Amino acid sequence: MTATAGSVWLDAAYLVTGILFILGLRFLSSPATARFGNRIAAVGMLIGLLSTLIGTGIVSWWIVIVGVVIGTLVGLVAALRVKMTAMPQMVALFNGAGGGAAALVSTAEFLFRMQGASFAHGIALPYDQGLTIVLSAIIGSISFAGSIIAFLKLQEVMTGRPITYVGQQIVNGLIALATVAFAAFIVTLHGTPEPLWPFFAMLGGALVLGVLFVLPIGGADMPVIISLLNSFTGLAVALTGLALANNVLIISGALVGASGTLLTILMSRAMNRSLFNVLFGAFGAVSSAGATAAGGPQNIRTATVDDVATMLAYANQVIVVPGYGMAVAQAQHSVKKLADELEKRGVTVKYAIHPVAGRMPGHMNVLLAEANVPYPALYDMDDINPEFPQTDVALVIGANDVTNPAARNVASSPIYGMPILDVDKAGNVVVLKRSMRSGFAGIDNPLYEMPNTMMLFGDAKASVDDLVGAVKAA
Ligand code: TAP
Repeated sequence: MTATAGSVWLDAAYLVTGILFILGLRFLSSPATARFGNRIAAVGMLIGLLSTLIGTGIVSWWIVIVGVVIGTLVGLVAALRVKMTAMPQMVALFNGAGGGAAALVSTAEFLFRMQGASFAHGIALPYDQGLTIVLSAIIGSISFAGSIIAFLKLQEVMTGRPITYVGQQIVNGLIALATVAFAAFIVTLHGTPEPLWPFFAMLGGALVLGVLFVLPIGGADMPVIISLLNSFTGLAVALTGLALANNVLIISGALVGASGTLLTILMSRAMNRSLFNVLFGAFGAVSSAGATAAGGPQNIRTATVDDVATMLAYANQVIVVPGYGMAVAQAQHSVKKLADELEKRGVTVKYAIHPVAGRMPGHMNVLLAEANVPYPALYDMDDINPEFPQTDVALVIGANDVTNPAARNVASSPIYGMPILDVDKAGNVVVLKRSMRSGFAGIDNPLYEMPNTMMLFGDAKASVDDLVGAVKAA
């Protein structure tokens, strides 16, 4: 096929889009450059979208404008109104939209090919194109339906606990087999004008599979599943790109697919779980069973704000260990004020960041960056762990599971083997939380009963604000 002037500039625009996406991902890999990365990836998306709509002339200008206005409004409202702690469910919704779009485009392409198909014309859907269309439709539908269930679980519209029943894997296996059988039927007939119902039966099977795939997964594992579904969406989009011979879809789909897969693997590793265990282990169901088996920690020491403030004010080094509770309390700005006060007194303050602290990758980095905590003060787990033995106070702010020493030394613990922050090795540990309730994994934390640990109960923001005042007065 000879390249027309139109197709050349369209390909050039797609190339720019691809380069901006790759640079965006590169910049996203450091908290210092992440915002810039996000912006240039957004510019890439705008160029990709506009060049497709203008270059291919599929729809009228009016439809383009209406679409852009609606999309911008939804994006703006979501960005302004959705709380940081609700970000995982927002990502699930957006991801579901991507998977659904890939499935819809494949369906439209299939119907379009079928319209022109007749026995007189012979093959309407060669094997390779048939295969990419059905795969994209199946994977996109699974991602769509799975993401919606993930959203409903995280939003607590339905139970976040794993939903399991006898014979679950067999039922899932049978539906998967039927879906693949319909897909094979469509591909091998190469789209000769048969009734369309096998295609829709295949779509239905994939949607049901998406729902059943996510039901047995516990709320705690949902971020991993969203990341996995994200990689599914990427794959579906790349396949749609192959079916439509659209380069920008192939590039962006491959980038999303690869980064989603890497993130899924990294998150599973950080929780010391295999992906198989996340998918089929029904983790929440298991861990809740053992959660309060021992009746919860009994021998704890509580501290007053003045006790803790004195300890902090006269320390050489304090390591702040933030967790999900800091996000819930929105205590990050107060934490920065406390660190400033301590630094004024010559105390070295560092921040220990666990890879799965909070509820999404980079959760703590984002919050602390928002409070203008300097990036060099943030230390990854492997870099900070050797420092705890020389640290006077580990100040644990709303973190629980990521500090649980049971992960190191209780072989029966559901989180046994998960790498943790070694806060228990610090001279003193102060834990800020509201109660003795457990964290996301639903298990007790023996840290709270250790002789060097003190509990400061209360909302993290209120406690840290009180500490700022008390340190000033110390
Ligand atoms: P958690 O273990 O979930 O503990 C958070 C603690 O914060 C709770 O014990 C809670 O105790 C306390 N808290 C809640 N609201 C608070 C408030 N307003 N003020 C003070 N404290 C408050 O958090 P973590 O240590 O960050 O661990 C994260 C967990 O999520 C891990 O189990 C991890 O595997 C899981 N997870 C994370 C990710 C990612 S990517 N981050 C992905 C999948 C799973 P009280 O209720 O007593 O206050």
